[in-house]
Amino acid sequence: MATHKAVATVAVRGKLALIDVPTVAPAGRQVRVHVEWTASTPLDLHQNDGGLLVTHPQVLGDGLAGTVVETGPDVQSLRVGDKVFGFAFKDNTQRAYQDFATVAETALGKLPPGFSLQEAVTLPNNTVTVFHAVTKDLGLPLDWPRPVSQESFPKNPHADTPILIWGGASSCGQYALQILRAWGYTNLLATASPRHHAYLRSIGARHTFDYRDGDVASKILKVVEEDGRPQRPQGQHGPAVPFVLDCIASQKGSLSVIAGVAQKGTRVAALLPVIVRDATDNEAPVYCMDVQAAVNWAAGVEARGVRTHFYKDDVFFREHLQPTIVPELLAAGIVKPNKQRIVEGATLLERAQAAMDLLRGKAVSGERLVWRVSDLKL
Ligand SMILES: NC(=O)c1ccc[n+]([C@@H]2O[C@H](COP(=O)([O-])OP(=O)(O)OC[C@H]3O[C@@H](n4cnc5c(N)ncnc54)[C@H](OP(=O)(O)O)[C@@H]3O)[C@@H](O)[C@H]2O)c1
Repeated sequence: MATHKAVATVAVRGKLALIDVPTVAPAGRQVRVHVEWTASTPLDLHQNDGGLLVTHPQVLGDGLAGTVVETGPDVQSLRVGDKVFGFAFKDNTQRAYQDFATVAETALGKLPPGFSLQEAVTLPNNTVTVFHAVTKDLGLPLDWPRPVSQESFPKNPHADTPILIWGGASSCGQYALQILRAWGYTNLLATASPRHHAYLRSIGARHTFDYRDGDVASKILKVVEEDGRPQRPQGQHGPAVPFVLDCIASQKGSLSVIAGVAQKGTRVAALLPVIVRDATDNEAPVYCMDVQAAVNWAAGVEARGVRTHFYKDDVFFREHLQPTIVPELLAAGIVKPNKQRIVEGATLLERAQAAMDLLRGKAVSGERLVWRVSDLKL
């Protein structure tokens, strides 16, 4: 059986390892991709240092970009030689940190002209996360085709409703702002380090707040009050901030502060896991999966944990989100890629380990760690 190299987590808090894995021929609607670029995400750290949803040895990485080298018999939209990018996670054969990944064509989009694989690979996992979290967990519409005329925007009942994006400078936060703005949501509030505020306002935030400010919750409420509280259809006042997308889900660093903003009727969607304690060089991380129980919410606050791995339960998204919607948003300039920091290293394993160490050191701010995967010259 043909094999190739992959980077795997092999022990909780251990060093990553290079392993040999089978090269799987594509079946049905699958294609085999030569993986050229990936983007490390905090999930790598949750898995390596926290053992979150891991069976060792487990190949890491859920965002890939590369070239189609083989197609299954029922593939409809891709051909050998196509440059693609996508989000796939189900098992070792699909994951990104290896020479070849065998994935469904519905988990990939074609690279639009004018973009590099390094840029595109910042998109897939977190644009999918935003579509899933906003529609499924916040219950806000993101219809496709996107409503584009000015006349169509007022039909959105939440066009002016305050929506708080906690962690606006995170990869998820940046895509949330851009996607919500493109669908006509105008009252977006974001927290981030002050150095990111101007950029976040340029991609959709109406107001920005420093999350390290001890008074940030009351400042958010004051700004919303000054802007005029959102009205419910029956004319009664709703919560000041009816929707919160917490892209950080830190028990102390986000959720406990959001609890000071959320009121009866607020819906909070937090990207799991809830981080009770961060991974460091000396300590294992601690996670919990229950957002409702993680902090003391006011009565009537609905707090949910986002699990993007279930996005395919929505049949329309399963078929169209990655092949059509994400590439079109990129091509049209509606969603700009996250800034990339290229992680260098002489080998696949060195680059993967260097990125993991940067994640553990909390050295990522407003950017994505992007690195070359396969060293094979085909
Ligand atoms: N469950 C799911 O389905 C799902 C899906 C996707 C992601 N996630 C999780 O969501 C989290 C974010 O992922 P990501 O890839 O978007 O992360 P990321 O881009 O690596 O996040 C880095 C950013 O986090 C910001 N940040 C750190 N602590 C903060 C705090 N207390 N308040 C506000 N901002 C803070 C920093 O902002 P500044 O630069 O402004 O300081 C930094 O720019 C991760 O834990 C990831 O595992 C879960």
